[in-house]
Amino acid sequence: MGIKIAIDGPSGAGKSTISKTLAGRLGYIYVDTGALYRTVALGCMRAGADLESAEAVARCLPSLDISLTHIDGVQRVLLGGEDVSEHIRTPEISLWASKLSALPAVRAFLLDTQRAIAETRDVVMDGRDIGTVVLPDAAVKIFLTAAPGDRARRRYEEMLSKGAECDYETVLREVMERDERDRTRSASPTVKAADADMIDTTGNTFEQSVEQIYAHVKKRLL
Ligand code: DC
Repeated sequence: MGIKIAIDGPSGAGKSTISKTLAGRLGYIYVDTGALYRTVALGCMRAGADLESAEAVARCLPSLDISLTHIDGVQRVLLGGEDVSEHIRTPEISLWASKLSALPAVRAFLLDTQRAIAETRDVVMDGRDIGTVVLPDAAVKIFLTAAPGDRARRRYEEMLSKGAECDYETVLREVMERDERDRTRSASPTVKAADADMIDTTGNTFEQSVEQIYAHVKKRLL
């Protein structure tokens, strides 16, 4: 049994960069579960399934061969053996991943994959329902959040740095719409586990957030 650290929260709170850095410092594996939802969306899309239909998506799931691997500590996600880690980072996939992640069949399909990874190794796993559903026995649970304006600004700057064309207002609107959908869905909504610690990164630099969370985890693991 590995040591499990669960980091949940809305998009843009800095979950993935913070979790990755934290995992590196602790010598744990970093698991980005959002990548799995994104790969389900890509797989169903490639299979030509009607993504608006819950039944069509559910029928498509058994044909998807999704796995995670780590190369030099960096997570790669495979679809039918093909490394699709870059293909899943488009606005279209973000939208569909958010929509499909509301389907109970999709969540059930990914549950074993997520649990199996944490079975044998020490992990920092980030997502929306890790502390509540996937790893309810995690040693440390953190709910990471930040004001919507802060989160949209981070996402906007990240997109600009990748050369994407976007405007801040649109990014902010998309962040808020996605939050609303992730928070209000009936299957595993993004909520803080009762035993999770809430950490707000509003106004922090990345380094400040990492320091705060690393210190918190160390204290919890004592
Ligand atoms: O963290 P991300 O943006 O890569 O996640 C993509 C979508 O998947 C997001 O809209 C929420 C959903 N998701 C989820 O429902 N549960 C998780 N454990 C991780 C992501």
